[in-house]
Amino acid sequence: MALLNILCYPDPRLYTVAKPVVEITESITVLIENMIETMYESNGIGLAATQVDVHQRIIVIDVSEERSSPIVLINPEILWLHSERVKGDEGCLSVPNTYDGVERAIEVRVSAMDQKGKTRELHAKELFAVCVQHEMDHLEGKVFVDYLSPLKRNRIKTKMLKLQREQNR
Ligand code: NI
Repeated sequence: MALLNILCYPDPRLYTVAKPVVEITESITVLIENMIETMYESNGIGLAATQVDVHQRIIVIDVSEERSSPIVLINPEILWLHSERVKGDEGCLSVPNTYDGVERAIEVRVSAMDQKGKTRELHAKELFAVCVQHEMDHLEGKVFVDYLSPLKRNRIKTKMLKLQREQNR
């Protein structure tokens, strides 16, 4: 297994719309294993393939306390969104050390393939529901900061670019 490099906002590649997975090949299986390892290593609760510069519709999530139950969603589709929405602080591995409020449906039902190619339905609530919506946004080329006001977004963009300049020194 290997750790993958996570793209940092405002990298334009984060704005790529991912393509559906046609077949679960050996390289997809390896990618998924590496995504799970990278998510755990970075203390994240979710990671979309977009964030590691692979533009295919794959996400990995683990909101468990033990961090031992990764869930793989391939070609996820939203079947139903709860009409009630709640605003909560979100963060993202592509926007380090930044948290801000985003409104999300409190429950969501999705259909997706797992890593073995089996399609199943999931009913997500609370943090899991937020995470599913956040990660599915990545596949559409959307980052959570895109929901914030232009003023806040610009502030975050400036902060991230400064951080990246410092790291590249
Ligand atoms: Ni994210």
